Amino acid sequence: MLRNLSLDDSVVEARESYATARPKARETHEAACAHLPGGNTRTVLFHGPFPLRAARGEGPYLFDTDGHRYVNLLGEYTAGVFGHSHPVIKTALAEAIETGLNLGAHNEAEAELASHVTARFPTMERVRFTNSGTEANLMAVSTARATTKRDAVMVFKGGYHGGLMYFKDGVGGVNAPFTFVLGTYNDAEGARALIREAGDALACVIVEPMLGSGGCIPADPAFLTALREETADNGTLLIFDEVMTSRFGPNGAGALAGVTPDLMTLGKWVGGGMSFGAFGGRADIMELFDPTKPGSLPHAGTFNNNILSMKAGFAALTQVFTSVEAEALHTRGEALRGRLNGVFEAEGVAMHASGMGSLMTLHGVAGPVARMGDIANSNDAAKELLFLDLLERGYYIARRGFLALSIALEDAHLDGFVEAVGEIVRERKAALPRR
Ligand SMILES: Cc1ncc(COP(=O)(O)O)c(C=O)c1O
Repeated sequence: MLRNLSLDDSVVEARESYATARPKARETHEAACAHLPGGNTRTVLFHGPFPLRAARGEGPYLFDTDGHRYVNLLGEYTAGVFGHSHPVIKTALAEAIETGLNLGAHNEAEAELASHVTARFPTMERVRFTNSGTEANLMAVSTARATTKRDAVMVFKGGYHGGLMYFKDGVGGVNAPFTFVLGTYNDAEGARALIREAGDALACVIVEPMLGSGGCIPADPAFLTALREETADNGTLLIFDEVMTSRFGPNGAGALAGVTPDLMTLGKWVGGGMSFGAFGGRADIMELFDPTKPGSLPHAGTFNNNILSMKAGFAALTQVFTSVEAEALHTRGEALRGRLNGVFEAEGVAMHASGMGSLMTLHGVAGPVARMGDIANSNDAAKELLFLDLLERGYYIARRGFLALSIALEDAHLDGFVEAVGEIVRERKAALPRR
């Protein structure tokens, strides 16, 4: 059925039907606002008119407190690559609970997990665990600053390395107080010039091999190679933030591009869905944390080796999301993105799915999307309409258009999703921007 409303009126109508169908979520949100600012404790999850309220998850499905079921295509922003409560991970967690929580001592599980992390990601000759990707990146950058005895940190506009290193619109207001040099993502020559200019003030360059939060913009391999060459010449350490991209191919995105950084960071799925982060890399750098060495660097964290994350991560890495599974999901993601772009092109709407493998973002532009500038004029109302219409049809993605596929999704779920997107863009032809 073709609906003949403008884009703005369509969004108003979609918000109204969203709100009418979710009275309990509204009630909980209003009560939460008395205790949590804006009823929220994780900014990215917030969306209007009030956020969806999750009740539980099961395999590929998310259920909300108002009784709706959604095919979950968001996969907990990449941490939930296994789907909800995978049986192997549940068993590992049950074992961990039996072992006893909060052991407060070295345990066997941390040694086992570390041996599998370094085998899967050979860049990490040595690794240390943290509680989040945010913390892993802060530790990696601090390690680089301590090792080089230099101050400045180069980052890229659109980059996201956790809540304290966030560069969507330049340097954000709650960022860690490092001296930042801000480059343009995928501008190899510009980055070379900035590194040379910063000279011996520059401790490290930290970069995502695909801008994740910034809109799923893959790095040009020549850009990563330029960073590798120029940092090596400048005595600057190169850090790959693979908190999101470690799911790509068998060994992560850096390995796929054939570029080896000095340090890399992990998070999300590698902890089996528990709180997790890791930083690691060259043995000569990481050995500085060896407590038997005189003048060694400290690295604290009550929960760094907590038994839940260690055991769940071990199960995830060795039995659930193996290299073989990772490659298979990567291929399925590439195919899905191609099909979505086929729909947008065939229907003549200015929308585009960018990304790599199983991670993608739906933008309100015709594409292609190779740089941040290509999405500067992305139509946000079109994205909101797509988001709300997808919820209405039982598909959950991020409000910002982000999708992170999980292995729990079957082909029928992905086929249904492509069909739903097709129906929406046909019905909303009058509202959505044209190519
Ligand atoms: C590339 C990247 N780095 C770091 C982080 C922060 O990880 P965490 O949320 O575990 O602190 C994220 C989270 O989305 C991320 O996408």
